[in-house]
Amino acid sequence: MTDAEKFQQSLRQAQREALQKIGHASELEGLEKIRIKYLGRKGIITSLLRSLNDFPENERPALGKLSNQIKKQLEEILARRTNQLREGKTARRREEDFFDYTLPGRKGWCGKLHPLTQINDRIVEIFYGMGFEVAKGPDVETDHYNFSALNFPKDHPARDMQDTFYIDQDLLLRTHTSPVQVRVFEKRKPPVKIIAPGRCYRNEAINARSFCTFHQVEGFYVDTDVTFADLKGVLSAFVKELFGQDVALRFRASFFPFTEPSAEVDISCVICGGNGCSVCKHRGWLEILGAGMIDPEVFKAVGYDPEIFSGYAFGMGVERIAMLKYGVDDIRLFFENDLRFLRQF
Ligand code: PHE
Repeated sequence: MTDAEKFQQSLRQAQREALQKIGHASELEGLEKIRIKYLGRKGIITSLLRSLNDFPENERPALGKLSNQIKKQLEEILARRTNQLREGKTARRREEDFFDYTLPGRKGWCGKLHPLTQINDRIVEIFYGMGFEVAKGPDVETDHYNFSALNFPKDHPARDMQDTFYIDQDLLLRTHTSPVQVRVFEKRKPPVKIIAPGRCYRNEAINARSFCTFHQVEGFYVDTDVTFADLKGVLSAFVKELFGQDVALRFRASFFPFTEPSAEVDISCVICGGNGCSVCKHRGWLEILGAGMIDPEVFKAVGYDPEIFSGYAFGMGVERIAMLKYGVDDIRLFFENDLRFLRQF
């Protein structure tokens, strides 16, 4: 191969390489590097052009012409590509920088707890502060824990199919949280001071005041000298903590198979302050829970000696308390999950 042929080959190869690299370049900096490598002062093509002086006079014009053609081609393509990249970049930047200050703001979304969960947590927290531990029991219960062990006679109306969702002869959906009492008593010796929140089920006609599922918080305390005065004290402290110091309590004699004596506890109406309104049906009082001293029959069934131990228990409806606290007049709203309702809490 003659020197002239070698020169041409080097030139063509540099051209091929440079074109390929320009095609791949996606940044202005990259293009500049290519320009320097091939066309810069010490660039490959520039050096080749400089070496033309070494060739005999008669060979120079042809080689020089080819060199200049290639040089010019690369310069043109580099310039075109540089312009393209520059335009793309500014177009993108214009879009990114655009901000319409007249647009109304967009509110961020933030998840939060369901109002029932909030009230449930608050109730548990208040009792936790008074030394109660938290316990839980299953939603699917046996007849034994839900009824028999709680001293419900076999023919008690609460066992009626109309109230209880039975799964089979023996299994049912618990109708209250009181079975947790029995489950704890079976496992522990007094003193026990427990709060047991959970979901309950009753096969009731659905309306603004009752739903097929709801929540209760059960509380109970068993020790050697627990009295009804302790029960009054703890419930009074709880009610005042939750609804405010001005709220009054009233204990009405009542009946539950698993407590004796039993009471239903009313608070002065938190809506009208006791003057009478539609929520309290002009009575001035609202029932919020059932309570009493745990029946000796319940103790006997779990092996606690009723001569040594005494205890109180109470159970409250979370929905009822949430309705009073938030002024909600239809229990079904808590279960429909309409965001327009839920976002208010
Ligand atoms: N379990 C009762 C109910 O669901 C409430 C209650 C609990 C009453 C504890 C007394 C003691 O109605």
